[in-house]
Amino acid sequence: MRRLGLIGFSGSGKSSLAAIASKNGFKTVDTDSLIEKQNPEAFELLENGREDDFRTLETSVVSDVLKSDFDFAAFGGGVHFAHPAWKEIYESSLKLVYLRSSFENLAGRFEVRPLCRRLGLEGYERLFKSRVPLYEKAATFVVDTDGRGLGEIWSEVFEIWNSLFR
Ligand code: S3P
Repeated sequence: MRRLGLIGFSGSGKSSLAAIASKNGFKTVDTDSLIEKQNPEAFELLENGREDDFRTLETSVVSDVLKSDFDFAAFGGGVHFAHPAWKEIYESSLKLVYLRSSFENLAGRFEVRPLCRRLGLEGYERLFKSRVPLYEKAATFVVDTDGRGLGEIWSEVFEIWNSLFR
């Protein structure tokens, strides 16, 4: 299967890249949109301290996505080496592109996210720092995003897709 997954912290551009891929004729899926479709209140679980319940929902959506047909999948920012769905992702042999950004570069893009609202900026930065090695462990490829426009980042992601599947 010619499939590539996009991972990285909130605001790193996963959904925007999936939208570009879609405009270019690729079949794309976005786990956050699927979660919201299944349960419009799902994201409130994160604000209410019920993260485990959210991850259970997310795990089931990720599991469905892994069984489906797509070219590019944008995963939520919690999807990494320590996610409950990791074993299944790993066993599916899906290649993952980690969109690597500094915390400073993401500022202004994640403040509205429910986890940021619950943890506050300092707690959210701690979460970011704890996740960086987990994204790196999960990644097949790393694409740096700091100081680069979406078009340039898409070109690199597309090059990876071509190198694997063309
Ligand atoms: C989350 C990131 C969000 C969304 C949910 C939890 C996280 O996705 O899945 O709010 O754990 O960092 P984005 O990365 O698309 O913002």
